[in-house]
Amino acid sequence: MKKLWVLMCALVLAVGLLAAGCGGDTGKKDAGAAAKPAKKELLVGTEPSFAPFEFPKENSKEFTGFDIELIQAMAKDMGYEKCTIVNMGFDALIPALDAGNIDAAIAGMTITDERAKKVNFSQPYYKSGLTVLVRKEDATIKSIDDLKGKKIAVQLGTTGAMRAEKVEGAKVTTFNTNDLACIELKNKSVDAVIGDLPVEQYFLKNGGSAYAKIVGQPLTSENYGIAVAKKNTELAKNMDKSLENLKKNGQFDKLYQKWFGVSK
Ligand code: ARG
Repeated sequence: MKKLWVLMCALVLAVGLLAAGCGGDTGKKDAGAAAKPAKKELLVGTEPSFAPFEFPKENSKEFTGFDIELIQAMAKDMGYEKCTIVNMGFDALIPALDAGNIDAAIAGMTITDERAKKVNFSQPYYKSGLTVLVRKEDATIKSIDDLKGKKIAVQLGTTGAMRAEKVEGAKVTTFNTNDLACIELKNKSVDAVIGDLPVEQYFLKNGGSAYAKIVGQPLTSENYGIAVAKKNTELAKNMDKSLENLKKNGQFDKLYQKWFGVSK
């Protein structure tokens, strides 16, 4: 009898450890949760220099941020035992989905018509937009209208890059990360950066305001979505179901509050 008891305790512990594998919250599983996936591991691509959505954890090889904790919670909700984050260039995410090298991409990725032809997007999970960042002492650039013929830095393959290309006579330079674009601004090699508003705001709050500021109104209204391969309609459906579950059980709000300091 005693032996059986020890065995049961060990079993409970093992299951608990397995469930904790993907980190995140310990919210209750909803009745409407997706059926257990055939694969045990969810491989998620991201470009992790995009705080507060995805960025390196201090003194660790791991990544953190709203997107990271959201996808970890979703993977758990969908029944995956493990959720592995794969670091790659932003412009490599859609090709990697296509090639089947990753199952999903979460990277503050804006849902656009062009991208939606290549991948399946989840329902929108975050409302964003683009903004213009200039040097603090610059009194000549007050909005995007003042960027004609100027030098603009952007991150490769982003909606910010697409918007910059439309500015008349502008010289647009692309960088692998938004951070590198901001360094160019600091070095006075460019006049402005066009990037995502919440990311530039976070950057200003965490030291960037020493040399940079945001000018003008947000340029666009954009929605972030989680991308999965075009052929993987099953996973796309499960992503939506899981997002809904996390919204219902309060986990989504909790993460939103944690990372943005306001409730959704
Ligand atoms: N929202 C923009 C886009 O979709 C920028 C996203 C960049 N994301 C990143 N993790 N670096 O184009």
